[in-house]
Amino acid sequence: MPFKRPHFNPTPLYPVAAIVLAATIFTVDTITKLEIAIPVFYTAVILIAARFCNRLGILLTGLACIGLIFVSDLLTPDSSLAGVINTAISILAIAATAALVLRVKANEQEAYEARAQLSHVARVTTLGELAASIAHEVNQPLTATVINSNASLRWLSAEPPNLAEARQAIENIRRDTERAAGVVARVRALAKRAPMPKSPLDINEVIGEILMLSASEIRQHQIALSVDLRPGLGRITGDSVQLGQVILNLIVNAIDAMETNPPGERQLTIRSGDGAGGVVVEVSDTGPGLDADAVKHLFNAFYTTKTSGLGLGLTISRTIIESHGGQISATPREPHGATFTFTLPAIRNGA
Ligand SMILES: Nc1ncnc2c1ncn2[C@@H]1O[C@H](COP(=O)(O)OP(=O)(O)OP(=O)(O)O)[C@@H](O)[C@H]1O
Ligand SMILES: [Mg+2]
Repeated sequence: MPFKRPHFNPTPLYPVAAIVLAATIFTVDTITKLEIAIPVFYTAVILIAARFCNRLGILLTGLACIGLIFVSDLLTPDSSLAGVINTAISILAIAATAALVLRVKANEQEAYEARAQLSHVARVTTLGELAASIAHEVNQPLTATVINSNASLRWLSAEPPNLAEARQAIENIRRDTERAAGVVARVRALAKRAPMPKSPLDINEVIGEILMLSASEIRQHQIALSVDLRPGLGRITGDSVQLGQVILNLIVNAIDAMETNPPGERQLTIRSGDGAGGVVVEVSDTGPGLDADAVKHLFNAFYTTKTSGLGLGLTISRTIIESHGGQISATPREPHGATFTFTLPAIRNGA
């Protein structure tokens, strides 16, 4: 997916709309009684400003709106308690909206900078494959960040703004940004040949965490999810971020594979259990499945049938599983679809 700088809309329509709206609110606020909380509508001015202003501009717009409230209050002398409370609520709403918009803008900027840095790394590095693999790993959380930024702007633009949903979207942005930072830290450790942080893990917990991360994606694609995790599985030794990445890669591939299915026929199944080689995890879908050619090349670097794919997800997944002493394979699923299975050695009792 081509990366776009967070853009400011250059059309003069937004500044004009913001000024007209602010002037209208100011006029109506000045000629109506203070008991009516007209100034709350200044939050809409901030949301419009978010379309064309940078962070400083948004801050100044917020301050200007608060200033207009005070000027209007001076022009309408009324010291009723309801009026004072309404003024306070309006100022709080404006401050909260401005703070949320600033937070979203900051995240967009961070996402831009991280990607810009990444593309610089890709240009200067001689380790082309390593650069491509970082791009692949970091792409998912960054894409999610952009989606969540747009979602929070939408929630904030709703009438009335849905602050709870906006807060949730921003919380998702924080989690995805931390995830991207985790991936980068591990790649850095790899480059330094530092040992990977491996610790005893419950694979069901890793699956649960990734399912939480991908829940909205799965819902958006109208996929029926079936999860069957065997309780009390043996622990494995590994890096939860890397193993999480494998599960996420498999889920994303399954979602992509079912894109052309009618919504009622999109079934994603995730299972865990015990097997001869240790702990077994299966991710299956009801997509078009795998033909003989695909089965042969799936795990090869840069093998892809997608216009926007890098063809690295499965290559990276296999490297990770093998570095954990395990194996990964793909089989067609009956009557249609694909099943990806990986096995990881369980820690023996007393080990
Ligand atoms: N669940 C699946 N069903 C059918 N085909 C699949 C499935 N998973 C992977 N494939 C095929 O294997 C190819 C390689 O997958 P891989 O994850 O390595 O790369 P990609 O998904 O194309 O790109 P990306 O690097 O973004 O992951 C895919 O392009 C697709 O053709
Ligand atoms: Mg993939």
